[in-house]
Amino acid sequence: MTQGPSLAPAYSFLRACRNEPIVETPIWIMRQAGRYLPEYRALREKHDFLEVCRTPELCAEVTAQPIDRFGFDAAILFSDILIPLIAMGIPIDFDPGPKLGRAIASRKDIASLEWNGAASLPHVKPVIRAARERLAGRVPLIGFAGAPFTLASYLVDAGASKDLIRTRSFLARDEEGFSELLDLLATATIDYVKEQIAGGVDAVMLFDTQAGCLPPAEFSRAAIAFADRVLRSIPKSTPTIYFALASSNGQLDAMRAIHADVIGLDYRVSLSQARAILGSGRSVQGNLDPAALLLPPEQLVARAEAVLRENGGRPGFIFNLGHGIYPETPVENVALLVETVRRHRNAARRIA
Ligand code: CP3
Repeated sequence: MTQGPSLAPAYSFLRACRNEPIVETPIWIMRQAGRYLPEYRALREKHDFLEVCRTPELCAEVTAQPIDRFGFDAAILFSDILIPLIAMGIPIDFDPGPKLGRAIASRKDIASLEWNGAASLPHVKPVIRAARERLAGRVPLIGFAGAPFTLASYLVDAGASKDLIRTRSFLARDEEGFSELLDLLATATIDYVKEQIAGGVDAVMLFDTQAGCLPPAEFSRAAIAFADRVLRSIPKSTPTIYFALASSNGQLDAMRAIHADVIGLDYRVSLSQARAILGSGRSVQGNLDPAALLLPPEQLVARAEAVLRENGGRPGFIFNLGHGIYPETPVENVALLVETVRRHRNAARRIA
């Protein structure tokens, strides 16, 4: 197994995941490889989205673009949470939002889904190896997957949906049937993340973007419990991040039970309240409002500094946005954000 250059233990991102004392704050941003970058748009003119995800040289190039330009402290593998669903027999069109070829509406539909293990995703190891080679040990590489509930919601609502009406009514009507779907998706996701780890990713992030739409009992039973099953299958040597767009204190409280090293925070929660609820043993990642990147420079700097101040120099903190970056974001503002976090980091180093 080629692992590429080995990673020095000094990587600030990995140390922050493990809640080790460090003075510098690592930064990366969700959707850092994407349409706000001119070099990404140029490459996408020639190649379609799935082709980029599955072709080693293209995937490696796009994964490294934000590192080359901004020097973030971690790279995230260029892919999409919905890719394993294609291997289960669901055609998906990205235009750019995902449209699924058919919806899963019943137990019979669930029985029609096929999963043949990691062998059905033969591109995974080659793209990870290529990305690692392209990064040449500069930064750790984050692998990721959708959490079972969020994948289920895309299958049942046949694409992105704001209120998940079909998903929530399926769950309310037939929780046992819905659990069969979650079981299958948890199995597939465990195989998928293990394949990524075998390919050489340094950390794994689980996206539960849609979980916040659920009422409290279902949030714990359908989202947290199945995400937890996936997270528990990951060896301790690989740090894990769980991210849900979930903004109530009750939901944060339910996340305390989850087996993840880091909790990714939605931009709608208070960082200090979240830290109080989650406790000092847990690292957090977040949570600047992505809309702050659309502000004039001084206001953006003030908002970023407010996040750093709110963390108050505590260890176990990874600077990020509270959701993915918007395609209309000016690239200069991203450079300014990185510079602001670096300035703070250098000041912290001088004091330490
Ligand atoms: O963070 C990164 O840079 C890595 C790449 C990444 C993509 N999707 C690329 C992508 C990651 C981590 C994802 C995760 C993802 N995909 C999530 C969870 C995180 C979140 O944002 O909530 C979800 C819900 C999806 C499903 C999905 N795929 C949506 C909603 C869309 C449309 C988004 C949009 O920007 O309009 C996609 C397509 C997609 N995935 C694009 C990219 C760069 C746009 C495709 C294009 O280039 O046209």
